[in-house]
Formats: sequence, C-alpha cells, structure tokens
Amino acid sequence: MSQPILQVRNLCIDFVLEDRTIEAVKDASFELAAGETLAIVGESGSGKSVTALALTRLLPVPPAVIKGGEILFDGESVMTMDAARLRKLRGGKIAYIFQEPSTSLNPVYTVRSQIGEAIRLHRRDVTDVDAEIVRWLDAVGIVDPAARMHDYPHQLSGGMQQRVMIAMALACQPDVLVADEPTTALDVTIQAQILELLRELKQRLRMSILLITHNLGIVGDIADRVAVMYAGQIVELSPARALLQRPLHPYTQALMNSVPQLGHELERLQAIPGNVPNLGQFPSGCRFHPRCPKAQSDCSQKAPELVEVEPGRWVRCPYWK
Ligand SMILES: Nc1ncnc2c1ncn2[C@@H]1O[C@H](COP(=O)(O)OP(=O)(O)OP(=O)(O)O)[C@@H](O)[C@H]1O
Ligand code: SF4
Ligand SMILES: [Mg+2]
Repeated sequence: MSQPILQVRNLCIDFVLEDRTIEAVKDASFELAAGETLAIVGESGSGKSVTALALTRLLPVPPAVIKGGEILFDGESVMTMDAARLRKLRGGKIAYIFQEPSTSLNPVYTVRSQIGEAIRLHRRDVTDVDAEIVRWLDAVGIVDPAARMHDYPHQLSGGMQQRVMIAMALACQPDVLVADEPTTALDVTIQAQILELLRELKQRLRMSILLITHNLGIVGDIADRVAVMYAGQIVELSPARALLQRPLHPYTQALMNSVPQLGHELERLQAIPGNVPNLGQFPSGCRFHPRCPKAQSDCSQKAPELVEVEPGRWVRCPYWK
C-alpha cells in the first residue's frame, strides 16, 4: 500500500455532559490509502459520525473533548493545524456528503451560487466557474445542467439534491470524500443509482472514500476494506471480501446473520439479543459481552485489544477462533 492519505491512530473522543461523560470513540485506528474505499459499519450510536467529523475537527468543542490520539492528513497533524490550513482541509481536501442534502444545501441560494462559491474557495485554478459547475452537474448525472444550475434546492427531487450535494463536494476535487449515510433517506432505486455513481466516480477520479453506513449489505459492492464499530470501538477491520466471506468477530458474525435486503436498514438487529448499551454506560471488559454468544468468564473484566490475527485482518476479541 502506498503512503496513506489519512491516518487515524488511537483516537479517543468523549462528550462531557452535565450529568455524565460519553466515551463516544475509544482507541480508533485506521488508515485510508489513495483511491481506497473504506466502509465504517455499525449500529446507531456506535461512533461513526463522530469519527468522521473529527477528521477535520468539525466536532463541537465542548461538549466534545479529544482525549487522545492522532489524525494525519497527508502526513500533517490535523490536531495542530491553524485556522487557515483547516479551512483548506475542510471541503478542499476532505469533503463531506451527508444523509440530508438540507445540511449541505442552503435553501435561499441557487445551485449555481452554492457550487460556485465552493469552487471559488477551493479551486484557484478555475477561471470559468460556470463551465466547471456544468461539468460536475453533468458528471453526477443531472440532465440539462446549464438550466438546472439556476434552480433552488426545493425545485429538485431528493435524489437530484443528493446529486447536487455530491457535485458540490466533487467540484472541489477533494482527496477524500466522506459519505455519511449518503443514501439512507432515499428510495431503493435512487439508493442504487447513487451507489453506482460513487463507484464509477471513485474509479474515474482515484479519490479515497470513507463510506459510513448501517447497511452491511451494500459494502461488498463498493468497499475495499471495512471497519466494524461497536459502542465506540472498532471491533473488526478487514478487506471487504474476506470479512463478508468469513467474519471473525462475534459481533460482525451477528451482523452478517441479520444483513437486510438492499435498501432496508439495520436500525434494529433482531438476530442479536440485547440492545446497544445505554449512551455513556458501557459494560466493563469487552463492551459486547452482555450480547455475545461466545462470551467467556473473563470477558466482563478484560477489555480486549484490536489485534492483527491474519495478514490485514484485525479483531478485538481473543476468542475469535
Ligand atoms: N453533539 C453531541 N453531544 C453529545 N453527545 C453526542 C454528540 N454527538 C454525538 N454524541 C454521542 O456520541 C455517540 C456516537 O454518536 P455518532 O453520531 O457518532 O453515532 P453514529 O454511529 O453516527 O450513529 P447513527 O448511525 O445513528 O448516525 C452517541 O452516544 C451520541 O449520543
Ligand atoms: S471478548 Fe468475549 S465477549 Fe467480547 S466478543 Fe470476544 S468472546 Fe465475545
Ligand atoms: Mg451518524
């Protein structure tokens, strides 16, 4: 693997609230190579979005506290970047698309004005901004882009808004695209179209993608590697194909047994007894032990480390075999 574009090492993030502290992310480590797609999969509240937002220091501080760890973008520490470098990083080098286009698109400005602003901010090389807007709207499959760019967001369907959001992110030519549940709010056909679009763009642009999803069913189609998160921790990190063929961590195995059909969400895992632990109140030892079908007597005391058990395959469970 070439030098990774993004390196996250032992990242720990707490939310310090009046009555309690939530250990939202605990000891997360992963890398993203140029051109690679890494999927982060996990149930609601497992720390996926917090991890993604931390990459460009977008978390609200307070209540968020970065307790420890390191984030390197292209070898440079994000934690110590000054405001000017951070502005270039956000959107310019690492761009986000979210579940709700409304979090990225402003209802009172036209598509042209919003994508144009992003281009002017991050792309000094572009002289004909309108031509560049049309080019990206076309690239994401918007018909008649020269006319559509004068629309306001509400004049577009949900799927079209999602495409505009992707065009806006891509127009800045980021090295990393973070797609946080980009298809969850869309119907099944549009979901499939957007995923196909991401797959195609990834190949064409050699961009790295961090794809966050509840849905293990879609990762085989698009991800090179998968990180499975449970209660703030990465419990398995593995090449996608190997993980789908032979999941090693008991939690991943349980997830696999409850993989929904494409388009259905994994909000509730019927196949795994028990619930995700209450926010901020994680069990001692292995955080999965109250729900784990393979739990041993010491699992409630000893917190397992993430260990490389086979080349490229990392598992946080000493009893994975
Ligand atoms: N601004 C905040 N203030 C307090 N707690 C927060 C805040 N943002 C996130 N958290 C907590 O951090 C934990 C992880 O949240 P996160 O949003 O990363 O989950 P997620 O895996 O993205 O879930 P989902 O699939 O529902 O989007 C949760 O317990 C959440 O309540
Ligand atoms: S450490 Fe124990 S409880 Fe945790 S996943 Fe492994 S077997 Fe299950
Ligand atoms: Mg989230």
